[in-house]
Amino acid sequence: MQKVVKYRCPSNIALVKYWGKKEGGIQIPANASISWSLSDLFAETTMIATPSNQTQLEFKYDGNAKPSFEPKILDFLNRIAPFSDFVKQHSFEVDTMNNFPHGTGIASSAAGFGALALCIADLEGKFEVGSDEFYQRASFFARLGSGSACRSVYSEPAIWGEHSEVENSSDLFAVPFEGQIHESLKNWKDCVLIVDDGEKKVSSTAGHSLLKNHPYAEARFKQAQKNIGNILQFMQNGNVSDFIALVESEALQLHSMMMSSIPYFTLIRPGTLAILEEIWTFREETNLPIAFTLDAGANVHLLYSSEIEEQVTNFIHTKLLVYCKKGLYLCSSIGGNPLKLS
Ligand code: DP6
Repeated sequence: MQKVVKYRCPSNIALVKYWGKKEGGIQIPANASISWSLSDLFAETTMIATPSNQTQLEFKYDGNAKPSFEPKILDFLNRIAPFSDFVKQHSFEVDTMNNFPHGTGIASSAAGFGALALCIADLEGKFEVGSDEFYQRASFFARLGSGSACRSVYSEPAIWGEHSEVENSSDLFAVPFEGQIHESLKNWKDCVLIVDDGEKKVSSTAGHSLLKNHPYAEARFKQAQKNIGNILQFMQNGNVSDFIALVESEALQLHSMMMSSIPYFTLIRPGTLAILEEIWTFREETNLPIAFTLDAGANVHLLYSSEIEEQVTNFIHTKLLVYCKKGLYLCSSIGGNPLKLS
């Protein structure tokens, strides 16, 4: 019998970064990472499962056949198959779309694999939809598509990777942060300033692999583990200035690891640095709670408390828009559950 399901899953932005994988295993992170989900930047995916003795796939993007995406998704299903008889015994039709424009350099894989993983966990029917086990199973599946995607299935800050200070943390799936977030860090927003909308010169997967022979890799992994412990403290005690310093340092460490890889590469652009300078000046002048972070690209994520939205919008329009490709920036609230749509 055919089964159909549809999910919406948000994208996420890491505060402490996953950059580097352990050897052996699929997408096993070299250090723990933590992210905020971006509820207004999401993927919506419909999945139809038909019983079959071979896992086959038909892939559409927003209703249009996209055979070029099929090998990647089929690979993903084949990675899940050893853990799921359901996947082994079905063929799938997938139709997906992102609500943010294509070619903006915003990673669509986290939301995309997150939504697919939720569909599979639901169709499989092993755990009750919405239960902790259900989300953990979806997170486990999402990881097999793209590491960072495993953090997208939670509305709470999500931690992925074993860490001594996070109970039940695992390299195999993300877990939601169970602590009490301080009021001052509860209602933040993220505006992604689109500095470059072109193809990345080096994919994240290729970037991760350059950590293998990286001269500073071990020091970076240690630092990230330490930063996880610290950021969890700051999120609970509301130490906003240390939170900001840690988040910005993480972004710069990520890019300095790229610049010191062998071979080296850069993903930030002159506009990226110009925006960082503007943010530092603005913060010095106003003392407002605003920070940046970066993912594996040139775009700048501007993080700020929603209480200062008006000042930040004004700041973007007067100082930052000039560095944005076609004046484009996309804003999202932090948090928000993945949604089952049908
Ligand atoms: C810089 O999850 O895209 O965004 O596991 O190879 O698919 P794969 O890589 P990916 O790497 C994301 C790296 C990052 C940091 C982060 O999200 O933690």
